[in-house]
Amino acid sequence: MRTVLLPNGVSVPALGQGTWRLGEGQRSRREEADALRLGIDLGMTLIDTAEMYGEGGSEQVVAEAIHGQRDRVTLVTKVYPHNATRKGTPAACERSLTRLRTDCIDIYLLHWMGSAPFTETVEAFEKLRREGKIRAWGVSNLDTSDMVELAAVSGACVTNQVLYNPEHRGIEFDLLPWQAKHRMPIMAYSPVGQAGRLLRSPALGAIAARHGATPAQIAIAWSLRREGVISIPKAGDAAHVGDNAAAAAIVLTAEDLAAIDAAYPPPGRKYPLAML
Ligand SMILES: NC(=O)c1ccc[n+]([C@@H]2O[C@H](COP(=O)([O-])OP(=O)(O)OC[C@H]3O[C@@H](n4cnc5c(N)ncnc54)[C@H](OP(=O)(O)O)[C@@H]3O)[C@@H](O)[C@H]2O)c1
Repeated sequence: MRTVLLPNGVSVPALGQGTWRLGEGQRSRREEADALRLGIDLGMTLIDTAEMYGEGGSEQVVAEAIHGQRDRVTLVTKVYPHNATRKGTPAACERSLTRLRTDCIDIYLLHWMGSAPFTETVEAFEKLRREGKIRAWGVSNLDTSDMVELAAVSGACVTNQVLYNPEHRGIEFDLLPWQAKHRMPIMAYSPVGQAGRLLRSPALGAIAARHGATPAQIAIAWSLRREGVISIPKAGDAAHVGDNAAAAAIVLTAEDLAAIDAAYPPPGRKYPLAML
């Protein structure tokens, strides 16, 4: 599996696993944990969760999946903005650590911007880092102007997790270049468009046929086509997990990329950051 270098010198796999909607009863927890374990075995060892997902249920499924193999995994979880205060952050972190049954989170993210000032959240993150409760921290759903504001407070942010797939590529105009300049990877969420309209796209369908692949695999390969992107598709279905891992090996041709550009044109101007 190709790796991506974070600004703190740590390498993580370019393709990881999302976990939104896990731990909410759609499937049994055992089935969901098995799917994540399969993904780990196939090299997708970065796992993204959040205290929000299933109000802790997703973190509990992740705990089950990584039991006995914590060291193989890069664990990412997120704090709710309303908890991201001086006092609320360490308390939320403790709850996540308990649910995840671990003593350290690899990357702790601010889920989106709330009313707590960056200075407070960063101070809390840095204290958790000194205490060894987290190894690194980052943010999610921050637009370029927010990143500039954050950079004035601290240069220690390792990633910004944002919506990125062919239907939502506004970040290519300014946020991706800004992060590239600062050597800070983005973490692309919803890379298969939550299995909606994107997977029925004739453009992706035609490319998939050329590669003997599925549209979801083409969407994942597209998200991974450039340096500095970590992609985190979520799959509770074992067959999807296998397909997603295999997508990391698909190399899209110039013709494929041009066809995606024709169907989903790259941004010619600034668009406000889209988020789910
Ligand atoms: N920071 C944020 O605000 C934010 C927001 C959204 C998401 N995220 C993170 O990013 C992760 C991914 O985003 P997402 O869950 O919104 O959307 P996604 O990964 O684009 O789509 C997940 C959906 O696609 C299906 N799927 C996965 N692989 C497939 C394949 N190979 N073929 C067909 N269908 C496939 C899944 O079905 P099955 O489960 O049945 O396999 C599921 O219904 C989340 O789980 C979460 O960890 C973060």
